[in-house]
Amino acid sequence: MSLGPGDEDLIKVAALQRQRAHAPYSKYRVGAAIRTKRNKVHAGANVENASYGLTVCAERTAAFAAVNAGDKEFDAIAIVIDDDRLPTPCGACRQVLAEFSPTMRVILATTGGLRKATTLRELLPDPFLPENLT
Ligand code: THU
Repeated sequence: MSLGPGDEDLIKVAALQRQRAHAPYSKYRVGAAIRTKRNKVHAGANVENASYGLTVCAERTAAFAAVNAGDKEFDAIAIVIDDDRLPTPCGACRQVLAEFSPTMRVILATTGGLRKATTLRELLPDPFLPENLT
């Protein structure tokens, strides 16, 4: 899958947000930006803690910012790191995103210019969804 209109802008927002990462332990700074169906953008960076297990990934920070703004239908997420390989969202973040938009697009990027577009369906083919509870 190739990048679509607006994807580079979303990557720019994620790259800027990455500068807000609090990652003194891993030094692995991640930025994420979600564009919603209402065409709003919500960004997040990873926030680590001296009690390591309390760390929250960039993707979940962005998702929770969107939900807290009352904006729950996601169109795409851009995830940016500064590395020579592309990022890949962790399993927990895939599941959290699937709660809201199981077929959303996922744009993976590096500050150096690597790009890959995929879908959450491809990354998490069989998510546990709200309808599983009914
Ligand atoms: N991290 C993210 O923010 N997103 C990912 O997709 C993978 C991991 C963060 C968590 C932690 O702060 C650091 O990267 C190393 O695991």
